[in-house]
Amino acid sequence: MTQRTILITGSTGKQGKALIASLLSSQASTCHILALTRSSTSPAAAALLKKHGEDNLTIVEGNLNDEASVRRVFESQKESGGIWGVFCVLAYPGLGKEANGEEAQGKRLASLGQEYGVKCYAYSSAMRAGPKYEDQLKLSGRAKANIEKHCMELGETGLPWVILRPAFFMENFEDYIGSIAVGVMRAGLKEDTALHLIASEDIGHVAAGVFNNPSKYTHKILSLTSEALTMTQLDVAHKKATGKRLPSISSYVAWGIMKLNTSTRKLIEDIERNHDCLISGEYPSHRDEIALANEAFRMKTYAEWKSKEVEADEYQGAWNGVSFTKLVTGRL
Ligand SMILES: NC(=O)c1ccc[n+]([C@@H]2O[C@H](COP(=O)([O-])OP(=O)(O)OC[C@H]3O[C@@H](n4cnc5c(N)ncnc54)[C@H](OP(=O)(O)O)[C@@H]3O)[C@@H](O)[C@H]2O)c1
Repeated sequence: MTQRTILITGSTGKQGKALIASLLSSQASTCHILALTRSSTSPAAAALLKKHGEDNLTIVEGNLNDEASVRRVFESQKESGGIWGVFCVLAYPGLGKEANGEEAQGKRLASLGQEYGVKCYAYSSAMRAGPKYEDQLKLSGRAKANIEKHCMELGETGLPWVILRPAFFMENFEDYIGSIAVGVMRAGLKEDTALHLIASEDIGHVAAGVFNNPSKYTHKILSLTSEALTMTQLDVAHKKATGKRLPSISSYVAWGIMKLNTSTRKLIEDIERNHDCLISGEYPSHRDEIALANEAFRMKTYAEWKSKEVEADEYQGAWNGVSFTKLVTGRL
């Protein structure tokens, strides 16, 4: 089988890294990855190379704001059969920030994909409330909807697009920033509002499933979420996996943040609206889109993901694979 060359943007970020790990663990001999980054000498790029080696991975420099730099990457592959697939993920401009740059990047890359005849173009967008509310989207949400529309228009003249719509990342609840997210959501969301969740690792697995079987997913939308949990249910799942409560800032501080910050209140409103639309059936294709993503890879629940993470941490805690218990008991 000839090697397929796949260009991955955001390769040093959460989704890009996850896709690279998934592709190289399952299809190392069948694909070669071009990992796009703005700096090939950054610690993040070096870490990618250290982890995966150079046999199936090449770090390529390019800035999605600069078309010429990305075009050079496509041109560089022409003699060796061209770029077969593209995974497009774009950096988030920030809560409440304008997203014209994001929209221009996404449209530009899809047009280049079309021009250079890629065979599978996967754009990672974001989950939202469904068709009835498309007109009300703003900022990054608006940019993502416009990029999706652009891909679909290019699809009429040949772009084999696939759209992935990931839900809220489970990693958003990690570390100190995560404890702020937990506090704000506990304070802001209604008791019965459920938040759709996905582990970024599973976005990588679902995308790898798409690249593995492109004809099945071409011109399809996949919604990436393993489950929807209320904050109380999330706490239960966290406790089940770790034995501890989900870390959170105090409710007073959380209320203060919401009072002072319009973008945070808007985020809470968006989550409430997504929940209302998804349970009221105003997004009728949503279940099918989730089922399709699960066919590409069975996505993990929060408890499954967190338990796996806890196990991995324990392993990292071991010294050269020899745990403290094994050392003191002598049973190696
Ligand atoms: N967090 C969530 O809950 C959630 C949910 C759904 C969707 N999303 C969407 O996911 C996307 C972010 O994905 P992520 O979290 O995987 O990314 P991330 O971890 O924030 O990483 C951003 C990546 O973008 C690259 N990048 C930034 N500016 C660039 C430029 N001008 N040209 C080329 N590359 C550039 C960075 O690479 P270098 O620095 O190496 O150049 C980095 O690899 C956003 O669009 C966000 O809206 C997030």
